[in-house]
Amino acid sequence: MGDRRQLVVEQTYDPFEAFERAQGAGVRDPYPEWADLRERGPVQKIELRKLFGMDTMVDIPDLPDLPESYLVLGYDEVAQVLRDGQTFSSACYSASMGIVMGHTILEMDEPEHHRYRGLVQQAFTRKAMERWETELVAPIVNRLVDGFVDKGRADLVPELFFVFPVYVIAALLGLPDEDLPAFHRLAVQLISVAFNWDRGVAASQQLRDYFAGILEERRRDPAEDVISVLARAELDGVRLTDEEIFAFLRLLLPAGAETTYRSSSNLLLGLLTHTDQLDALRRDRALLPQAIEEGLRWEPPLTGIMRLATRDVELGGVAIPGGSVVSVCVGVANRDPRRWTDPERFDLFRPPQPHTAFALGPHTCLGMHLARMETTVALNILLDRLPGLRLDPEAQDVHVRGVAFRAPAHLPVVFDVPA
Ligand code: HEM
Repeated sequence: MGDRRQLVVEQTYDPFEAFERAQGAGVRDPYPEWADLRERGPVQKIELRKLFGMDTMVDIPDLPDLPESYLVLGYDEVAQVLRDGQTFSSACYSASMGIVMGHTILEMDEPEHHRYRGLVQQAFTRKAMERWETELVAPIVNRLVDGFVDKGRADLVPELFFVFPVYVIAALLGLPDEDLPAFHRLAVQLISVAFNWDRGVAASQQLRDYFAGILEERRRDPAEDVISVLARAELDGVRLTDEEIFAFLRLLLPAGAETTYRSSSNLLLGLLTHTDQLDALRRDRALLPQAIEEGLRWEPPLTGIMRLATRDVELGGVAIPGGSVVSVCVGVANRDPRRWTDPERFDLFRPPQPHTAFALGPHTCLGMHLARMETTVALNILLDRLPGLRLDPEAQDVHVRGVAFRAPAHLPVVFDVPA
């Protein structure tokens, strides 16, 4: 432990507030506008600068000439893009996320992606998942619920959902508890790089140095955590390099925590505002898996991902030139009326069919089983321990908000406290 670097962060800057602002948290519901666009056609040409609000990215040095860009809004077209990694490359992330995260799995194409995924997924086996469920996730959620169970009321976003997936990722990595707040801040600073360049780059370097110390420790003294597994993972005689491990670790917190906190919050808000469905779930917990899928379809935490067209291609009747940026609107695709009846409605009784919240194709979310397990554990514990759980009747206008990432800022609830 002796040579491990401490995480020191700047306390006066609030990366969470900056990130929320950057993600368009001021926007309440972009779906009606997106639905209008989709109505005009499942694939639309759009000005890239407008799409990402690049006019606000004052910190990006030497913004290059922007390529043509297209929005993909229909389910079938989104599925086509995501399943065809040859035509629609993931390399586009190297110019944004790649600068601060390193060369991550997100930006890899085949065959490199397949080899790397084969190595990192060794840390996410079914056996590991079962152990994490009982030994890590349930105790973390229970500990947080202990903090408010006697009060009869709570704001479940700050008091539970915002923090529990961060604690889970930190526990998977075997990080010491005292490093958690700084780790969380730095990870959010890192993914806000497009809006604050210097801070993003500094956070990246700090996290790299921090992980380098931990990796060295785990090589000396291996344990069962994800970092130890990555350090010894091997496939056909090939191992991960240190830089490949650091890139994966830097990706893990934003990929795993920013998403799961939002999807769990969105699902619970869906249930609390559709009390007939919440009652049905209370009566029959076997409905939970389909409730989770419907929550992900209805309000996915992440509404869009990116690809780069590697050649001229026709999609949804639109000619897309090679070199174009393709914005894959997984959120809009999840509400395609060609696939779902009354798609704006949260309805856990819908006939199940695949959605795009976890993407599709080779880059399908590596953590989707973990995310589903975390939400299952959290929801079951809430329903078990907070009888009569309902939205605080005095709370005003609780709603999901945001553009790129969506979640409620607050989830004020009341419940019965046993006498
Ligand atoms: C509800 C929660 C989650 C959602 C909605 C979600 C969504 C996604 C999406 C849409 C992608 C594809 C990105 C792209 O191709 O551009 C992805 C990839 C990924 N996710 Fe998740 N994710 C969630 C939770 C997690 C968790 C808990 C982890 C932690 C292990 C994780 C790790 C990853 C990784 C490593 C990738 C890259 C996979 C690859 O490129 O092959 N995600 N996720």
